[in-house]
Amino acid sequence: MRIYNFSAGPSTLPETVLRQAQEELLDFNGTGMSITEISHRAGAYMEINTEAQENLRRLMAIPDDYYVLFVQGGASQQFAAVPLNLLGGSGRADYLLTGNFATKAYEEAARYGDVAAVASSADKNYTYIPDLSTVPFRPDTDYVHFTHNNTIFGTRFAELPQVASELACDMSSSILSEVVDVSRFGVIYAGAQKNVAPAGLTIVIVKKSLVDGRKPLDICPTMLKYATQAKADSLYNTPNCFAVYIANLVFRHLLEQGGVAGMEKINREKAQLLYDYIDDSGFYTNSVEKKYRSRMNVTFFCKNKDLDAAFAKQAAQNGIASIKGHRMVGGMRASIYNAMPIEGVKHLIGFMQKFAAENKNA
Ligand SMILES: Cc1ncc(COP(=O)(O)O)c(C=O)c1O
Repeated sequence: MRIYNFSAGPSTLPETVLRQAQEELLDFNGTGMSITEISHRAGAYMEINTEAQENLRRLMAIPDDYYVLFVQGGASQQFAAVPLNLLGGSGRADYLLTGNFATKAYEEAARYGDVAAVASSADKNYTYIPDLSTVPFRPDTDYVHFTHNNTIFGTRFAELPQVASELACDMSSSILSEVVDVSRFGVIYAGAQKNVAPAGLTIVIVKKSLVDGRKPLDICPTMLKYATQAKADSLYNTPNCFAVYIANLVFRHLLEQGGVAGMEKINREKAQLLYDYIDDSGFYTNSVEKKYRSRMNVTFFCKNKDLDAAFAKQAAQNGIASIKGHRMVGGMRASIYNAMPIEGVKHLIGFMQKFAAENKNA
């Protein structure tokens, strides 16, 4: 029996996709072999590689002057790949520190160039996004880096930074959850394990001019150069074929569900339901400034924090998996990515109501 899985990542995938993968696991497309057993140079896989790129382009309306790359190493590897590929201009980049991963990205980049943390929300444990109109962005930077959705702290950039420089964005926990104008970005990267596929696939969407027209730093390893994978159509070495295959099934599924605009509508509805309930409950709280609340990762606490542990424990007994918050925040976190149906959110709210009623005098 499947239960509602609120894990922040790896996370729930659409059931129809898992069923199709199950059906095809022993014999992919009449080949008599599993997709995990086929050469990445075989036609059967090359078709998936091409179709997945095309489907992602359609879903995100990615302009032709961008490369779509499927790489490995997770978003964390991109913390190094971005500066190593892009700091070949002025050698300067600005970072917005809105959480743990944003800070890790900054610390990694600082090893390779003149990198500045131009704003931070660490003073209030990352419960807000700094006011972008007051950020002292430096002139003549190679890029400005930010984390679109902060998975641990449950915040989201309500608007994109307005800068003359290229935007480099970690979109790991929000890719495909809402419509974004790709042409505003220099590079978007995302680990697949939240909204797209199993772990082990990283999506990179990068402006061609930043790959063909800018020299990576000399120390950039061949494998991390965007040009290496761009020239090889993401087949420079053996890719994570299975994750790309699942990603493609997810892309097809999203296209059938009304694309990213369709997802955004449902995601807004799901998040609204949950935040409205939290705000009205008198029993639970959320500490994120409303404007910056994430639609993907909803953090909350019992007002009486002594009850948080019992909540998570009892939730697990009521068909709700992985609701415990990250240790840097505490409390609970409901990750409600694309594949979490609205019924799952309603089920969670139902349990929250029951728990609140049973513990109102605690
Ligand atoms: C926003 C964000 N960036 C980066 C990471 C790290 O990703 P990976 O494990 O793919 O390196 C995560 C993982 O949860 C994340 O949520």
